Amino acid sequence: MSDLTETEVWLALKRHYAEVRRQHMRDMFDSDRQRFDRFSLRLNDILYDYSKNHITAETLGLLLKLAEEAQLPRWIERLFSGDAINHTEHRAVLHTALRARAEDKIVLDGVDVVSQIRNERQRVNRLAEAIRTRDWRGVTNQPITDVVNIGIGGSHLGPLMVTEALRPYTLHDLDVHFVSNVDENHINDALEFLNPETTFFIISSKTFTTQDTMVNAETARQWFIHQVGSDEQIQRHFAAVTSNATLAREFGIAEENIFSIWDWVGGRYSLWSAIGLAIVIAIGSRQFDLLLEGARDVDVHFRESPLERNIPVIMAMLGVWYNNFFNAQSMAILPYDQHLHCFPTYLQQADMESNGKCVDRSGQAVDYSTGPVLFGEIGIAAQHAFFQLLHQGTKLVPADILAPIYTVRCIQRHHRALMSNVFAQTEALMRGKTAAEARREMGEKGLDPAEIERLLPYRVFPGNRPTSTLLFKTLDPKTLGSLIVLYEHKIFVQGVIWNINSFDQWGVELGKQLASTIRQELNDAQEVTSHDCSTNGLINYYKRHRPVNKPPT
Ligand code: F6P
Repeated sequence: MSDLTETEVWLALKRHYAEVRRQHMRDMFDSDRQRFDRFSLRLNDILYDYSKNHITAETLGLLLKLAEEAQLPRWIERLFSGDAINHTEHRAVLHTALRARAEDKIVLDGVDVVSQIRNERQRVNRLAEAIRTRDWRGVTNQPITDVVNIGIGGSHLGPLMVTEALRPYTLHDLDVHFVSNVDENHINDALEFLNPETTFFIISSKTFTTQDTMVNAETARQWFIHQVGSDEQIQRHFAAVTSNATLAREFGIAEENIFSIWDWVGGRYSLWSAIGLAIVIAIGSRQFDLLLEGARDVDVHFRESPLERNIPVIMAMLGVWYNNFFNAQSMAILPYDQHLHCFPTYLQQADMESNGKCVDRSGQAVDYSTGPVLFGEIGIAAQHAFFQLLHQGTKLVPADILAPIYTVRCIQRHHRALMSNVFAQTEALMRGKTAAEARREMGEKGLDPAEIERLLPYRVFPGNRPTSTLLFKTLDPKTLGSLIVLYEHKIFVQGVIWNINSFDQWGVELGKQLASTIRQELNDAQEVTSHDCSTNGLINYYKRHRPVNKPPT
């Protein structure tokens, strides 16, 4: 048994779970007309309703006690003040500094981090605005019409998600494309209709060694050079965002087009840094400032609010409740705003790369469940795909629903239909449908009694399925910034409770190592024997059946 699962408060939560698990949320609502008021919070333009969760006041009290005992307030201070809390990489974790005000003072190893960030942001803004205003010209003196961001993971998902989410704020005559997959189809599809003379590439890679990104970057360079010109000319058409300026220079990128990120920014928390260059080009520096402002508002809220009124803390502790006491294995993210279609995938990396860990901070294997399997989809689409399982399946899948009060044009016919689904689904998941209700409903439709009894088991909905709803005014940059950071801090809090390091990602290394060996083995037609028989079999089958049985050129 670990320290965590032996604590008084953990044991109290276990006992409490045994007492309340059979209670139905329907009864909780029926017996408490104030439940919505008691279990909802507001922050700027965001309403967070967590009343449709399987909790009582006592549950919350115990969960917050658990947070107190994990010394959450101290950890929050350690995060913001730049302590090296990423202890396996000896690094501070300072993505919050990327949102700091000019007057804030954050010093790390004697360096004034805030002015470092500000300087880099000014450089990013200058390039982005020059491209947006058509002042930046390519080698044939034409303005840029297309920007291609080449990156993967944190160097891709954040910029992609934000650019998609803020589509109404983008320019019509400047397209931003994203390429991440090393499968040539991705870059070929992106480049197919582009003109190299009006295309600008951003090579986004913190390390500048990630294989997928570097292979794509080389293809982009060759595509450009074959059609337009020489190695020197790529300087008007390529930029890099990286902490490895040496490799970017070797690639041929001009010094003034190399933008820095620092080792204290984790890839999955980096969209606020120069990694956001594609976003700034897409929406402009003023809107990007608003994105940062929304992010900062949540930083302040998180740092200063008492735990019981702290939205990321409540979000996190509800997750712990389901994960560790209800044994829920997963969690669904269901945006009802089409522009948030990349949000679930973005959060997958943020959450699962952060909290998918089985060893605690002292190197011991944990004996409790950590990060959930996070998945999601646009809510409306999901209703017609996997909601069946949410309503009547055997698994408990707590879900977050995100929805806007108004959209860009807000055509009532569309928006009312959309929102009716938001409210209906959360109600249906919570209340379900009893046998009596199902019987009455079928009776009213004129079904004969025998048929009613035959169908009854299928027509009953157990309900008692938890959802939390984030209702926001509209998806503007500021609100988006806030929404993202609510989840960033939720993930951090859960890491604190589970006593894991949410900021390393050693688990992605093994596959990379093996791939680099196997890549060499694919260079010739020789039979491979160095792996297990399945891996050998697959490699050898591939070698025998690939179209060209000679080393790649
Ligand atoms: O493979 C995982 C990872 O290291 C992520 O953590 C990171 O966001 C991504 O790869 C890309 O890394 P880089 O920006 O160094 O290319």
